[in-house]
Amino acid sequence: MPDSQVPGPISPHGGALAERLLAEQEAEAAAARAAGLPRVELSRRERCDLELLAVGAFSPLTGFMNRREFEGTVDSMSLPTGEPWAIPITLSTGGDQADALKEGQEVALFDGESGRVLAILHLAEKYDHDRERECREVYKTTDIEHPGVATVMGQGEVCLGGQVDVIGLPPHADLLQYRWTPRRTREEFDRRGWKMVVAFQTRNPCHRAHEYLQKVALELCDGLLLHPLVGETAKAGDIPADVRMKTYEVMFENYYPKDRVLLTVLPASMRYAGPREAILHAIMRKNYGVTHFIVGRDHAGVGDYYGTYDAQEIFDQFDSQAIGIVPLKFEHAFFCRKCDGMVSGKTCPHGPADRVFFSGTKVREMLARGEAPPPEFTRPEVAAILIEAAKQQAHE
Ligand code: ADX
Ligand code: MG
Repeated sequence: MPDSQVPGPISPHGGALAERLLAEQEAEAAAARAAGLPRVELSRRERCDLELLAVGAFSPLTGFMNRREFEGTVDSMSLPTGEPWAIPITLSTGGDQADALKEGQEVALFDGESGRVLAILHLAEKYDHDRERECREVYKTTDIEHPGVATVMGQGEVCLGGQVDVIGLPPHADLLQYRWTPRRTREEFDRRGWKMVVAFQTRNPCHRAHEYLQKVALELCDGLLLHPLVGETAKAGDIPADVRMKTYEVMFENYYPKDRVLLTVLPASMRYAGPREAILHAIMRKNYGVTHFIVGRDHAGVGDYYGTYDAQEIFDQFDSQAIGIVPLKFEHAFFCRKCDGMVSGKTCPHGPADRVFFSGTKVREMLARGEAPPPEFTRPEVAAILIEAAKQQAHE
């Protein structure tokens, strides 16, 4: 399946797109074979990861990690084949089920929600899942209050490593027009003639600071891929994907030049692993054909677990050629009343008293009261959507 003739302005990570989705006839045959295989149910995280493997967003990975891949990732942020990789991609189980499965066997991976078999795993290796080590090294904490740590510690104690052949993507009910594969975004960048494409990762609604970062980058690049993560967010207070999408749509409608921007989604689950996750976020976007990646303040962070710019500094630990995609690092951006515009500490000489700044918690409280944050913080069209969503939520 790998193909070096892939379109787009940048090579995939590892050189070829590793797409694991079977063609129709092979998929039918695999589905028939799967009926007679032992079954393992996928968690929500694993279902998202399977989709990313299917479409090539995790290139060069062709399946769930074996022990050497897991250890290389955790201990030295690299795959046995040499490419940088910062977060383990695991499939785990435990107990009697783990004992019953044999290395060398085929296993049907199914989605408990739809009841469908989504893939066949060629089980190459079973190994102990050292979850504490994963948390310590990757998340830099074993505090169970950390939502990423909580997810890892809740996983099974045995990992199942091996290639996957994907029969079908997890069925999605929403955002269908935005679910573009890496191959499709690459084709689109070629079609539009974009050579320098910057991607913006987000798990939040679009505020003025986000718009500022995107537009500063867009001054220098040919095109912007606004690429919100919609697979799974697990932290209390995270706004649902459909509401977030409405805020991006209304921003594009009113404030962006249509021929220079593209809005599609990343079906990944959020890890909240800060710096390590920034590396994963960048590499996935490289696979989607993107050449530049925005990393601002506390990227993919949660609480106080990471330093404000750790997710930028981690890129310096790698050979920039090996990463391939270029991080565009932004300082904390805000509106300054004296400058009368969006700025950062790098461009504004004034003090905190002139800055329009609200914490996430403060903004949520305002919206819940039906109060719009000032237009210097959130565009009124976006505030209206968020207030409406807060109202709906209060009724549920
Ligand atoms: S997340 O992936 O980092 O969790 P979030 O939506 O909070 O998503 O932020 C998206 C991107 O914008 C990240 O790169 C983040 O660092 C950056 N960012 C958000 N707000 C600001 C800000 N006020 N100043 C600078 N960068 C910011
Ligand atoms: Mg953030």
